[in-house]
Amino acid sequence: MPKIITELPGPNARAYLEKSMKYEPQSMSDQVPLVWDRAEGCVIWDVDGNEFLDWSSGVLVTNVGHCHPYYVEQVKDQCDKLFNCYDFLTQPRADLAEKLVQIAPDHLDRAFLVTTGTDATEAAMRMARRAHEGFEIISFHGAFHGRTYGAASAAGSRGTKNGFGPMMTGFLHTPFPYFYRCPFGSETEEECGNKCIEFLDWTVERESCGALCAVITEPYQGGAGSIMAPKGFFETLDKWCKEKGIYFIFDEVQSSFGRTGKMFAMEHYDIKPDLVTLGKGLGSGVPCSAVLGTSAITDVLPPGSMGSTNGGNPLSSRAALAAIDIIQREGLVENSARMGELFKQRFEAIQQKHEQLGDIRGMGLVWGLEMVKDKASKEPDADFTRRIVLNAFHRGLCMIAPIGLFKNVLRVAPPLIITEEQVHETCDIFEAAFEEALQG
Ligand SMILES: Cc1ncc(COP(=O)(O)O)c(C=O)c1O
Repeated sequence: MPKIITELPGPNARAYLEKSMKYEPQSMSDQVPLVWDRAEGCVIWDVDGNEFLDWSSGVLVTNVGHCHPYYVEQVKDQCDKLFNCYDFLTQPRADLAEKLVQIAPDHLDRAFLVTTGTDATEAAMRMARRAHEGFEIISFHGAFHGRTYGAASAAGSRGTKNGFGPMMTGFLHTPFPYFYRCPFGSETEEECGNKCIEFLDWTVERESCGALCAVITEPYQGGAGSIMAPKGFFETLDKWCKEKGIYFIFDEVQSSFGRTGKMFAMEHYDIKPDLVTLGKGLGSGVPCSAVLGTSAITDVLPPGSMGSTNGGNPLSSRAALAAIDIIQREGLVENSARMGELFKQRFEAIQQKHEQLGDIRGMGLVWGLEMVKDKASKEPDADFTRRIVLNAFHRGLCMIAPIGLFKNVLRVAPPLIITEEQVHETCDIFEAAFEEALQG
């Protein structure tokens, strides 16, 4: 169980928080005042020696657990050898490209390495535009693809755009099937998905200038509140793209490397995306991202048309190779699926007892818990949601700040090495934090 040995935040944490207030813009997300010192597996220690259990994985990054011994050993070994050599080839980069193509679905036969998720989004959209005569990119309301201008222009919420305009032209936006709050008031998930596809045609009819290039979507909308698409939606969307002769870009920056109980979320569906972006869990700590693509697209890029200072550097490539190795050797994809079922049962039991847990959405080890005033009205309750995160912090459970369009969704995303015992321990803490928040 976690151990809290000081008031929170403790004296050391308070000093660092003050330093940050003085020297940093406070533009980052508004997390609880946990100043991390070190972490191992699913356990975090703060700068005052308080011990917490982790439901964040950073932000769905450290899939193999914090500071896994094999991962640390591989990274340290690389530190003695080589950090950066620009676009000159190294063994780790060639090995990682090969590994990614080997574990990806057969039709994806190229891997392009970059550093951050938003780099991967930009690279995928640039590849699509370079290879296709069209330029228009369709994305979904609620989507999040990163914070650079291209990615922010593809976004479907104000989060990354507000006050940063103008955004880029050439983007069309259309509703995503958020069944709990279906924009069309649908009665069933299937109907919600179908209406969104119908509206996609409507959007294209009215907004396109006849130069469609690609559709980009997340397999589930993370930042918008872990919104899962209805069964069959992606298959229909994939078919729609193929009929229109445009590319299908699947943004798996967050959902890959076992997070959803499959190595890649695309494996849950019968689809063949043309470009797939990867990030977060790929490096599992050291920044690393990638675009998987078909050679028909990637091979139109001439030398010098796409690269980056840090993309595919030997340190991040080596870290990613170690992470994939651990995921495969330790059966973390299977563990993610199994532990996910346990979480689901625990959340459903809480939902049955309480009016405030309106919706539970998830797969593997990524869950969204949507909090409302009551199940009938579905009125979002952001204050209650925030109180749960704070209470959990004081009880030794680290949760990410609420997400979603109304800031009323809790994200549950522990490292994939979480054990059955830790699932129950953390759910007990969560339940106590939830019940405490009911007192106001
Ligand atoms: C689906 C998705 N795409 C892209 C990104 C951007 O990744 P990064 O923050 O590494 O640029 C994120 C980050 O949360 C994401 O969840």
